[in-house]
Amino acid sequence: MKIPKLKIGSITADIPIIQGGMGVRVSLASLSSAVANEGGIGTISSIGLGDVEASKKEYERISREALISEIRKAKSMTDGHLSVNFMGVLSNADDLIKSSIEEGIKMIVYGAGLPMKLPDLARDPSVNLVPIISSARVAGLILRIWDQRYEKTADGLILEGPLAGGHLGFSEEQLAQPEAYSLEKLLPEVLETIKPYEDKYGKKIPVITAGGIFNGKDIARMLLMGASGVQMGTRFVCTEECDVSQEFKQSYLDSKEEDIVIIKSPVGMPGRAIHNHFLKDLEVKGKLKIKCPYRCLSVCKVEKAQYCIALALVNSYFGDVDNGLIFAGQNAYRCNKIVTVKELIKELLSELEAE
Ligand SMILES: Cc1cc2nc3c(=O)[nH]c(=O)nc-3n(C[C@H](O)[C@H](O)[C@H](O)COP(=O)(O)O)c2cc1C
Repeated sequence: MKIPKLKIGSITADIPIIQGGMGVRVSLASLSSAVANEGGIGTISSIGLGDVEASKKEYERISREALISEIRKAKSMTDGHLSVNFMGVLSNADDLIKSSIEEGIKMIVYGAGLPMKLPDLARDPSVNLVPIISSARVAGLILRIWDQRYEKTADGLILEGPLAGGHLGFSEEQLAQPEAYSLEKLLPEVLETIKPYEDKYGKKIPVITAGGIFNGKDIARMLLMGASGVQMGTRFVCTEECDVSQEFKQSYLDSKEEDIVIIKSPVGMPGRAIHNHFLKDLEVKGKLKIKCPYRCLSVCKVEKAQYCIALALVNSYFGDVDNGLIFAGQNAYRCNKIVTVKELIKELLSELEAE
């Protein structure tokens, strides 16, 4: 198969691969710039850059400065395409979106919350807006509201299916029947739903599929079904350039299929993670002490929460995986070595070309 380019609004990437934003410091300047240098779109995550024990003002300052610093660093390492990922449940999302645009970021990816105000926050027409969706219903809702309120449509949509890592836009009941919500089922419904908006605005709204995409064969399958590209997370964790600790990466290499589990996140959404010492210990202890002066996630039920998810993810970032949560996609157990981003992309493209 000939390798298609990926056009998202004013951005054209040479290859149809986006490296997904991975929160709490998993995808920062090093990983995102390496992907951008290979012709893909590299995503910096804006999530979890503050200090969980800081006051509101301090947290907001620290996370803003850290994000700006990662954007500047990434830009100094590549001339390729970079995006920044946001979660609607972040208390300071609006501030971070504004700072990213001021730093010249041209693609905003927004998940975990409906991006109803996003066109208002990002009015610069050269900034491309890409909501993450998990169903045709949500795609239709966002596009209808944007059309009515702003006379605008999305520059792209990331359709994240039930096999992805991190927080998931599905209920536990839905996750128990992944076939019923597979990308193969969801994609045609999404393509159908967005058609009237493509016609009205006279442009293609590229749909990028994510979740469980592991090799070039998977990418080809998605492209043949009408996706314009894919977003991948798990494979990029197992690269030298990934910003997270070696211990985090090693947990992927050591994991077995039965270790990849669904957890109830304190955020109120299900998530997918590795069933490691931290999670096993939590099952015994029930609840860990939480110090939370700021409330970095607007939906986090601190009083009821078993643990501080931001702290647990930061611990893993620094390598203290026994006291940390390790988010991972369903296929993490299939990763068996750490490679460079260049090697990974070369492998994916040669597999794609062979299809
Ligand atoms: C460690 C990890 C952290 C993630 N964090 C986020 C996040 O903060 N925000 C988000 O929108 N998606 C997040 N994701 C989802 C990825 O961006 C991507 O869509 C997903 O992992 C794709 O599925 P795959 O891992 O099977 O390739 C995360 C995924 C992983 C593996």
